Amino acid sequence: MLTIGIDKIGFATSQYMLEMKELAIARNEDPAKFKEGLLLDALSISPITEDIVTLASSAASDILTEDDKQTIDMIILATESSIDQSKAASVYVHSLLNIQPFVRSIEMKEACYSATAALDYARLHIENHPDSKVLVLASDIAKYGINTSGEPTQGAGSIALLISKDPHILALHNKSVAHTRDIMDFWRPNYRNTPYVDGMYSTKQYLDTLKITWQEYQKRFDAELSDYAAFCFHLPFPKLALKGLNKLFTKETSKEVKERLTDNFYHSITYSKVVGNIYTGSLYLGLLSLLENSPTLKADDKIILFSYGSGAVTEIFSGHLVEGYKNHLQANRMAQLQARTALSVKEYEEMFFEEPKMDEEGNANFKSYKTGPFALSGIQNHQRQYIKVDENDKN
Ligand code: HMG
Repeated sequence: MLTIGIDKIGFATSQYMLEMKELAIARNEDPAKFKEGLLLDALSISPITEDIVTLASSAASDILTEDDKQTIDMIILATESSIDQSKAASVYVHSLLNIQPFVRSIEMKEACYSATAALDYARLHIENHPDSKVLVLASDIAKYGINTSGEPTQGAGSIALLISKDPHILALHNKSVAHTRDIMDFWRPNYRNTPYVDGMYSTKQYLDTLKITWQEYQKRFDAELSDYAAFCFHLPFPKLALKGLNKLFTKETSKEVKERLTDNFYHSITYSKVVGNIYTGSLYLGLLSLLENSPTLKADDKIILFSYGSGAVTEIFSGHLVEGYKNHLQANRMAQLQARTALSVKEYEEMFFEEPKMDEEGNANFKSYKTGPFALSGIQNHQRQYIKVDENDKN
């Protein structure tokens, strides 16, 4: 039987950030509310020249070799901050990365969940075409708006997952349970730039669907928490996921299992604590953080993952670590995150919510900002203009 899973993981976020304590002071909140109440220290803030295409391209260019680009035959971009109702963002990414032309490129949506559906589609595709590779991108900019309840849980970032047979990082198991529940906890109609959110209700739904999906997973696969070295969660803000983990513990859960899962939980939130919610990529940023920071994980350890997308769809699935997985990860990611430029609250308000000023012909020019290796330079005739950023041109 073919082993299929995550061969490489790339990550990109914006070059700017907002410290939570600055936001707390500006909003007359106790900084401890964000630091301890939400478990957040900073948020990534993207300028107008960074969007889901530039972030996804940066995340993928971080990991892809020329050989990968010749072998990828499907690109799926999961997002809920789409830039076009018609054209898939993956088509732009395909072009910016010079991936070979005989590729299926699509975009997928279901709030923060769809990257998980993309992963399953990729797995099924490779089952039928064992020599192909699939690029799954989860790319979002999470904007709730100034002075909203969700403001402290914003963020921006993209995860790139290269899916192949004989993967070098995580072998996926063919065991999953998905769950759909029609609720209005968080939604964004086409005419809105920011979502409507029933914040407290959404947290209750997250916790309740976690319980229901886990019970079903346990029933179908005879699973126990003790089977796993770590439990990764969708991370809208890390404190909610911690509550979720604690709710899964029962009186039968041993002290050792509780300690193992709790220790690894904290390793899984290291990056999200300073990046914020990146919607579709959030669960996978948690996985990356776990793998790059946990000192106890080892080959063959099983990891279980909970994906949640408002609306709502959830899924629990699992995988195990492959021998040598650490050699395919990075050691200095925290240093890169610390190198982002810190913004004042006023600068954040101007930068994060800046809108294109379009003339009658559909042209807009943008000021130049720091970005990753790709940038949105402007709009011409209603068409987005992407450029590769020369290292020397970076301001
Ligand atoms: P809030 O106003 O921060 O709520 O809004 P709060 O007053 O309950 O405070 C939060 C925590 O801080 C509480 O902790 C307080 O006790 C604590 P808890 O009791 O829950 O453990 N706190 C303090 N701690 C220390 N020192 C203090 C202090 N003061 C208070 N001085 C809310 C929270 C979730 C409503 C808000 O952040 C929000 O609207 N967020 C956006 C929605 C969201 O993230 N929902 C999560 C589930 S839905 C989801 O995951 C999907 C999503 O990713 C989107 C998608 O799928 O597309 C969002």
